Amino acid sequence: MTEGWEPWAEQLIPWARTPGLDSYWRVRDRFFELLPPPRTALEVGCGEGRVTRDLHARGYETTGLDAAPTLVRLAQEADTGGAYLVADAAALPFAEASFDVVVAYNSLMDFDDLPGAVREAARVLEPGGRLCASVTHPIADAGRFESREADAPFVISGSYLESSRFEGTFSRDDLTITFHGYVHPLQAYARAFEDAGLLLEALREPRVPDDEVERDPAEARWQRLPAFLHLRYVKP
Ligand SMILES: C[S@@+](CC[C@H](N)C(=O)[O-])C[C@H]1O[C@@H](n2cnc3c(N)ncnc32)[C@H](O)[C@@H]1O
Repeated sequence: MTEGWEPWAEQLIPWARTPGLDSYWRVRDRFFELLPPPRTALEVGCGEGRVTRDLHARGYETTGLDAAPTLVRLAQEADTGGAYLVADAAALPFAEASFDVVVAYNSLMDFDDLPGAVREAARVLEPGGRLCASVTHPIADAGRFESREADAPFVISGSYLESSRFEGTFSRDDLTITFHGYVHPLQAYARAFEDAGLLLEALREPRVPDDEVERDPAEARWQRLPAFLHLRYVKP
């Protein structure tokens, strides 16, 4: 069975738990706006639990699931109100129609079996339930800026159309993290949702807000190109 980010848990914890460090803190409200009103929510790939805790604080009855045992333990310790468990997103230990909403926040691109995880999310949703996801925008993953200047050319040197492994190291303040996952073209996500019988309801390409550029002027590049893609799908 996959162990997700278990080998890198020690990197993820301070990165995810430092308020304001990464874009989550500035983008989350725009993501949460896409969610249906609070009822029962499952987060797949919950990591140390910050998204599940935020869902709980917004009134959802929450379950957080992750393949990494250390992250699940820490998530549970930080949140007495939600349930947490270790499992593979592609083999969910829940009956059909168990949740109103499944959230996948920056986790689909880390799953070894993207179609299997989306199929499982669709299975455990009630009819009329929503799968809400944030992923690294496929265009952002496809290439890179030539420099840190606001008007730097963005260059795609490989193939946009192929899925491939991804490894990228980022530093902020005194923290460094290496993300391990996959790069997928938009079609790979669209096919996974389509094959699971889900219908697209909303799609957003959130722009980096001005306060993030004030913090780091190089972020101005990401006001020309979307760094993330937010999706809401419904189970008919
Ligand atoms: C980038 S982290 C995102 C964590 C959290 N959603 C957040 O935004 O802070 C991706 C998470 O997906 C988990 N993961 C990777 N593969 C998984 C799988 N097959 N099943 C469940 N979780 C998995 C990793 O362990 C990791 O915690």
